[in-house]
Amino acid sequence: MRIVSHAVVMMLLLSGCGVPAQTSAELAAKPKAAMPWMNKTLSSDERARLLLKQLTLDQKIQLMHGTGDPHVGPADPHAAEGNGGSGYVPGFPEYDVPGLQIDDSAYGVAYSAGSGRYSTALPSNLAAAASWDVEVAKRYGVVIGQELRDQGYNMSLGGGVNLAREPRDARTFEYEGEDPLLAGTMVGSLIQGVQSTHVIGDIKHYAVNDQESGRHAVSSNISERVMRETDLLAFQIGVEEGKPGAVMCAYNRVNGTYACENDFLLKTVLKGDWKFPGFVISDWLATHSTAKALHAGLDQEQPDDVFYGPALKKAVESGEVPQGELDDHVHRILRTMFEAGVVDDPPKKRVPDVFGHAKIAREIEQRSMVLLRNEHHVLPIDAARVRTIAVIGRNADRGMISGGGSAQVDPPNGNAIGEIAEKEKKADWQKAIWFPDSPLEAIKTAAPGVAVRFNDGADARTAADVARGADVVLFYAYQWQAEGLDLPSLALPDGQDAVIAALAKANPNVIVVLETGGPVLMPWIKDVAGVVETWYSGTSGAEAISDVLFGKTNPSGKLPITFPLTDADLPHPKLVEPPTASQEDWSDEDKMSRKLLAGLPSFDVAYDEGLEVGYKWYDAKKKPVLFPFGFGLSYTTFAYSNLKIEQGVGARASFTVRNTGDRTGEEIAEVYTAMPESSGEPPKRLVGWLKISLQSGEAKDVTVNIPEKRLAIWDEHKERWSAAKGSYPILVGPSSEELPLRREIEVR
Ligand code: BGC
Repeated sequence: MRIVSHAVVMMLLLSGCGVPAQTSAELAAKPKAAMPWMNKTLSSDERARLLLKQLTLDQKIQLMHGTGDPHVGPADPHAAEGNGGSGYVPGFPEYDVPGLQIDDSAYGVAYSAGSGRYSTALPSNLAAAASWDVEVAKRYGVVIGQELRDQGYNMSLGGGVNLAREPRDARTFEYEGEDPLLAGTMVGSLIQGVQSTHVIGDIKHYAVNDQESGRHAVSSNISERVMRETDLLAFQIGVEEGKPGAVMCAYNRVNGTYACENDFLLKTVLKGDWKFPGFVISDWLATHSTAKALHAGLDQEQPDDVFYGPALKKAVESGEVPQGELDDHVHRILRTMFEAGVVDDPPKKRVPDVFGHAKIAREIEQRSMVLLRNEHHVLPIDAARVRTIAVIGRNADRGMISGGGSAQVDPPNGNAIGEIAEKEKKADWQKAIWFPDSPLEAIKTAAPGVAVRFNDGADARTAADVARGADVVLFYAYQWQAEGLDLPSLALPDGQDAVIAALAKANPNVIVVLETGGPVLMPWIKDVAGVVETWYSGTSGAEAISDVLFGKTNPSGKLPITFPLTDADLPHPKLVEPPTASQEDWSDEDKMSRKLLAGLPSFDVAYDEGLEVGYKWYDAKKKPVLFPFGFGLSYTTFAYSNLKIEQGVGARASFTVRNTGDRTGEEIAEVYTAMPESSGEPPKRLVGWLKISLQSGEAKDVTVNIPEKRLAIWDEHKERWSAAKGSYPILVGPSSEELPLRREIEVR
């Protein structure tokens, strides 16, 4: 965030004049026997216990907060040891224990421009979720972890998994969609990837931080059952699968209490029910108290020490916070450092694998694109048969758009479009950045013998003139999202709908290539021949997109989020805005002080749609949608047959999928269950899926396990998960709205 970038500047200014850490020679001279916590054969908990015994009160408190925010006081003397990222917590060189070098890294490593480093931008998190492929998510995490290490970091801020209750949320691109099972599974795999590189992973923003508007003031109001089965379930699965070292608590309140001092969220659920052994880190400036937050379970304040610095020391000395309680918080941070490997295998700076990672980014994008419409087989384009292609769209000659805010990965050589137009320029950390990867050039490379015309789409009539007579028209449409700036509507911005409509009148072969953070409305859908959702496509996006457009890759992604017909169909037809518009004037960063934050009057967003999140809402309300959850076409076709269910603890669904077309392709087979009427559940929920690769004509018998817990509901009286008795139809097919196979099971 903006405040961080101030901290970064401060750190850079101070670098060189800070207190140098001990030299490696000095450290090597220390007798290792005197440092029993360095014994790798001991458990992380044991090592943390041994180290904790050595620490003074000041040293313990040093671990409980970050070192920098020049807005709220003089920078911590240790700030200069920071690496220029989002945050820094000093370690204990005298004990061979490094500090936490923390950086934002949602879809790649952030804040590299300031230090002249390079980071690969992967496709957005939502894009990777559209692959429904845990191996993709793992590779994604490994790239992030490796590049963090290459730049000297040992802790990642990423792992966003807030459920898309409100698709206009500006951070939809950073999250994993609307279904808790898909979102939790994908984020869990991403975290596994990150942590496999000996970098601490996190999951965020815990919890129900489902819109950005008024995020410091809003109270997300939601019942326990609903929370447990929706927003919290995504986190629960992510925590169980990914075992992240850290959980970042969110800015917002939940049922009236700030997430970072919310006893129910942190103590009862996260550390109690889920037995999370790691540490809770506050979002930047999301800590609001000392003893209250501490008792509730917040372990570390970021980015500074307003509540967890001198105020915490005083609270411990006065007995308001018992030593034992402080020790539990410190223990969690230390055990996480040992567990992740940041003590035993600290990062070494080196040049990231620029070429290798660009290739991975391209492969991930190839697997993440979703083919939404393909009338009269307009795709794939046969480069040998077309003579002219018109490429149209703002900046389609220069770059690909990327997601903004603290997740922003800096583009090599700066913004591909140069200076930002004033109207798009919000705060410094919120700019529309286009990566220097030209779709126009990628098309020319993919179709060498073809005449390729370009128009920027600024004027509908001129664009239509360029489109007229071309064999194929490619319109690159964009929707930009950046932290803090919710979208007023899901409509494409800047009059793009009118341009598409004009193109469709001029040419029957218009293909819309969507570069969007999340779902968009398509009033022109029936008039265009093709639509491909490419999300924010990362470093090698333009090339990956041409791979799909020209059939080098057969698209296989499916929507992790519903595309509704209109804003009016959403559970909240209008975004709930804070009552006072000036509450969050992000463009004036000097106003962003603790005083301002503390003074913000709270307002409520009542999540009355309850369990009906995403497709469950449209199902329950019988509202037609533009494209349903789980939908995605291929250049081949698949048929489903022969469903058998075996029941035991949970169930196993076996069925056959056949490739009925003439190309090799991958199909994501989805398994849902409808819940018994008495359960009060939405009509159906996703309970499993499988990605199957099939050659033309090939058939495979496959089995999807449905663990018992996927059928459970949260019983608010008994305070536990339980199964509703009755009959559960198991439904199998290619999307949430096309489920040709069905068989009932009885749960007694
Ligand atoms: C964002 C977090 C981010 C943090 C540090 C906050 O504004 O909400 O997602 O990790 O800043 O940059």
